Amino acid sequence: MKDLFGNALRDYQNGNYTEDLVTATNISDDDILPLPYLFRDFKTMPKLEKKALKLAKGSVLDVGCGAGSHSLYLQKQGLKVKAIDISKGAIEVATKRGVSHTKVEAILNETETFDTILLLMNGTGIFQELSQISIYLKHLKSLLNSGGQILIDSSDIKYMYEDEDGGFWMDANANYYGELDYFLFYKGEEENPMKWLYLDFDTLKLACETIGLHCELVLEGDHFDYLARLVLAETKKNQAPSGFYSVELSLKNKIPRTTARGM
Ligand SMILES: C[S@@+](CC[C@H](N)C(=O)[O-])C[C@H]1O[C@@H](n2cnc3c(N)ncnc32)[C@H](O)[C@@H]1O
Repeated sequence: MKDLFGNALRDYQNGNYTEDLVTATNISDDDILPLPYLFRDFKTMPKLEKKALKLAKGSVLDVGCGAGSHSLYLQKQGLKVKAIDISKGAIEVATKRGVSHTKVEAILNETETFDTILLLMNGTGIFQELSQISIYLKHLKSLLNSGGQILIDSSDIKYMYEDEDGGFWMDANANYYGELDYFLFYKGEEENPMKWLYLDFDTLKLACETIGLHCELVLEGDHFDYLARLVLAETKKNQAPSGFYSVELSLKNKIPRTTARGM
């Protein structure tokens, strides 16, 4: 990883803001990701993020903290926060902005336990692909204190496959429609391509139930996005489906078909 994302955050933090990040995916053209957005304060956050921050309690893990905007808000509210990110630049910036407890770390290497785990700004992206959901969810579950919660947002991007007639053009042989190749550009350089997963709520819920997490829809956003709250199923007296089956297999059956025009 070249850490262009971290370089951009560093530039903004150090007063060298001259251009924005550019993102693209295998199904969409270039899009601007304005650097100031990554330094947003509570007032300018989308309503899903505001709701997640209001629900946060106890000790908090901010996964993929970026510039640390959510961590800073929670810290100011008196919560104990640990912010982690795989980007060295992001952690350097979050630390400079005042987040007290930061670490360059991938979520799968985290071992402490928490009352709240936050994954925001399409938090399911970190899972990368459908086949990895259960690995990530099981690990996140292992990091929850009793009574703890995971607050995660994502979007159902089925709308991106809709044509002008209201039909859908998905390839039935392709993987789940929310699995995207994600490209990032900054100052004329291109980051190594990444995999990034957008997950519809029903698929997330099914994956959660399969590994013993109860998944509740907290709030829907303005554009096919949503905030979900995951808690230990036993806390909710909610049994996981009986009989073990692979989450990957059951989720594959949910892939919409190419010919499903006007669905
Ligand atoms: C879309 S950004 C969101 C940043 C921040 N949460 C926000 O809302 O502004 C996703 C972040 O997740 C980080 N990330 C990606 N994979 C990760 C992993 N496996 N563990 C921890 N952080 C990860 C990226 O480096 C990036 O900073």
